[in-house]
Amino acid sequence: MASKLKIHSNQDRFSLYSLFVLIVASAGGLLFGYHFAIISGALSFIKAAFHLSAWSEGFVVSILLLGGLAGALSAGSIADKWGRKKVMLITGVIFIIGSLILTTADSYYAMLLGRFITGMSVGLTSVVTPLYLAEIAPPHYRGRFVCVFQLMITLGILLAYGINIGFAKEQQWRLMFLFGSMPAALQCIGLIFLPETPAWLMRHGEIPSALEALEDLRDDTEWKEHLPEMKKTAAPKKQGTWKLLFQSQFRYVVFIGFLLSIFQQITGINTVIFYAPKIFEMTGVVAANDALLVTFLIGVVNCLSTFISIWLLDKVGRRKLLLIGTFGISLSLMLLTFAFLSKWVLNDAIAVISVMCYVICFAMSLGPITWVILSEIYPLIIRGKAIALALFANWFFNYVVSLTFLVLLDKLGAGGTFFFYGLISLISFAFIYFCIPETKGKSLEEIEQIVTRGKFR
Ligand code: BGC
Repeated sequence: MASKLKIHSNQDRFSLYSLFVLIVASAGGLLFGYHFAIISGALSFIKAAFHLSAWSEGFVVSILLLGGLAGALSAGSIADKWGRKKVMLITGVIFIIGSLILTTADSYYAMLLGRFITGMSVGLTSVVTPLYLAEIAPPHYRGRFVCVFQLMITLGILLAYGINIGFAKEQQWRLMFLFGSMPAALQCIGLIFLPETPAWLMRHGEIPSALEALEDLRDDTEWKEHLPEMKKTAAPKKQGTWKLLFQSQFRYVVFIGFLLSIFQQITGINTVIFYAPKIFEMTGVVAANDALLVTFLIGVVNCLSTFISIWLLDKVGRRKLLLIGTFGISLSLMLLTFAFLSKWVLNDAIAVISVMCYVICFAMSLGPITWVILSEIYPLIIRGKAIALALFANWFFNYVVSLTFLVLLDKLGAGGTFFFYGLISLISFAFIYFCIPETKGKSLEEIEQIVTRGKFR
């Protein structure tokens, strides 16, 4: 049925059809990034339209993250029960509903409702899309497939920044939100043609459909040799419960996934994604009216640097890239601290360079690789719930960082604040060095066997 493309890796090859599957599924990332970032340009118009106080303004921004929390927490159980594909479809529909509520909102409360609902779909997609991508990818391409999710997030952010610039003059904030429903509608149509993941199908005893999906997705016969292994790991067992996450053989992977997910946020990426113009204004490099342009530039750097990870992840490995990236993040933040604390003539230039280096290092490491590792380290029986737990923490700390950043700036000053994030980044480097093993090139079934034998460390 599917046309085949000869793309060789060590053993596996993926079909042209699986590229279509990859693009449609990872569009969830585009919606994530778009709805996450669009508010930065729409906010001032919403504030004027509904006469918002500073507090209400902050709440319109942060309620999306609360929706994200709710979405992430519920995604795991329903993705295990109903299947990954169904949850992606539901998520697409919720994205459309949320965008339409925002487009037509005639009161502050309608805005809050719309933001919470889109937040829920962002939370759902952050769990189910990487899960889906990891389960349809051939082992030697898994890193790159899941990385495409991060690429789509960065593209979504960039698109939102571009739309913000485009619609800013006419103050068309409603159109900014309406635009977000279009990729969701296209994705919903595309999703009809996607298979459920082979792992989920096998786990639910639907072996013929699982084999059909594998035939369509793969252009090699390698997977046939691993069938007994796949069937064994996926064999229907008792339903994975939340309690199971804390059993001794799973505790370690649950713990490191949880922490990695937190580090992705508390190293401060969203302070740059949201406050880049403010940071540059403080250095005096950028005038206030250049803010949208600077933000767009950060978006471009963020998006392009993700390709470094896509290119290297399955060659160099997750661990090395993570270590290089987090070390670079720490160094960039220390340099930024220096730029703020010293009175050197080149400080402004150093501040800009260090923010750019920070974004590059994040985009090639903690950004994408967190999704990759979360989607591959958990055994199938706990996978949905364990990713949901880690992503719950991710959204929670995203919320904490966005709430506390301005307070930190006020109390510690810019130098102190970035020094604090720099220290956290050094701790994340040490955590990765001591706790995260390499998973490059191993099939999900191999990783599962290693984890359940307690040999993952
Ligand atoms: C993070 C987001 C962040 C984005 C930036 C994602 O991996 O989860 O919080 O805004 O990367 O590109």
